[in-house]
Amino acid sequence: METKFLKIDINSFNTEDLKEAGEIIRAGGLVAFPTETVYGLGGDGLNKESSKKIYEAKGRPSDNPLIIHIADLKDIFRITTGMSDKALMLAESFWPGPLTMILKKAAIVPFETTGGLDTVAVRMPDNKIALEFIKSAGGYVAAPSANLSGRPSPTTAEHVCEDMNGRIDMIIDGGSSTIGLESTIVDMTEDVPIILRPGYITMNSLSRVVGDVVYDPAILDLSSDEPPRAPGMKYRHYAPKGDLAIVKGEKDKVIDYIRRQTEAALSEGERVGIIATEETYLNYSATEVQNIGPRDDEATIARRLYAVLREFDEDGITRIYSEDFDTPNMGQAIMNRLIKAAGHHIINLSN
Ligand code: TXA
Ligand code: MG
Repeated sequence: METKFLKIDINSFNTEDLKEAGEIIRAGGLVAFPTETVYGLGGDGLNKESSKKIYEAKGRPSDNPLIIHIADLKDIFRITTGMSDKALMLAESFWPGPLTMILKKAAIVPFETTGGLDTVAVRMPDNKIALEFIKSAGGYVAAPSANLSGRPSPTTAEHVCEDMNGRIDMIIDGGSSTIGLESTIVDMTEDVPIILRPGYITMNSLSRVVGDVVYDPAILDLSSDEPPRAPGMKYRHYAPKGDLAIVKGEKDKVIDYIRRQTEAALSEGERVGIIATEETYLNYSATEVQNIGPRDDEATIARRLYAVLREFDEDGITRIYSEDFDTPNMGQAIMNRLIKAAGHHIINLSN
């Protein structure tokens, strides 16, 4: 299949520019599109054949449900039932924005979209191109992140192209994602909301609007036997090709440890990549040293994380060491992604 490319300037475009993209979705095709979190791989969320195509293009197991993206709050009542007051309050407070809510699905939503579940994930992205595209597509765009299963999520159209060229009908290039990590997912089907995936919108922000909120225990305790409630969280996502280890502890010890390991690995012929910060990167020499940003600038760290992992893949890096990023708000989301990318390989120097 030949993939069309459509470049859109987010600051100056009109409805007409997204007409063809919308028609592709209405006809059952697939279009990758920008959002503020990561790029999505969109199909018609109410068409089961489209959802099947999405799984095929991604190489993803079909028990892993998709998020339906909407552009108008009232559309949520067509695809869900029994929306609670709390869910409505969260929608009003955070949409458009990086929050996905799990709600009871209406009959119109095919089980192919929800991976066989009787709940559905819904989000209204905060990106003008995405919103216009969703409207043009008929209002309900099912989309996972637009990466091949197991690869880091794409934060630019170039990343999407690496994974999806020739597999889908169109890629809309709308520039880099501003947040760079996937949305916070919160399960609203019970009285107390449950965070299934941490993201830019933190537990504190949610609590301020709806009171008590809890975490799915499976995302906090990585050795838990309980399966995570978001089926996708059980997979080892975001895996770089190189063997990644996270090194925790006091700054000087971490630098010293990574330097020694790097030297040993290089002498064994490994290609070593290091994820360091503005404050530390000059201490290292390796095949590739990435300065991911200042330690206290979590927005920059989040935005760059997936691009850095992809660059290591491209450069054939076989061993990766990363410092840890325990920042106050997004820190949990950043570390959640990084720990999964590392397959839970953490070296703790503080004890
Ligand atoms: O920021 C985002 O959320 C991006 C952009 C494109 O919107 N999308 C995204 O989709 O990250 P994806 O498919 O890569 O991740 C969706 C996650 C998966 O972990 C899936 O298991 C979970 O949402 N999920 C979807 N529907 C669910 C449901 N009904 N119940 C529980 N978890 C659900
Ligand atoms: Mg994904």
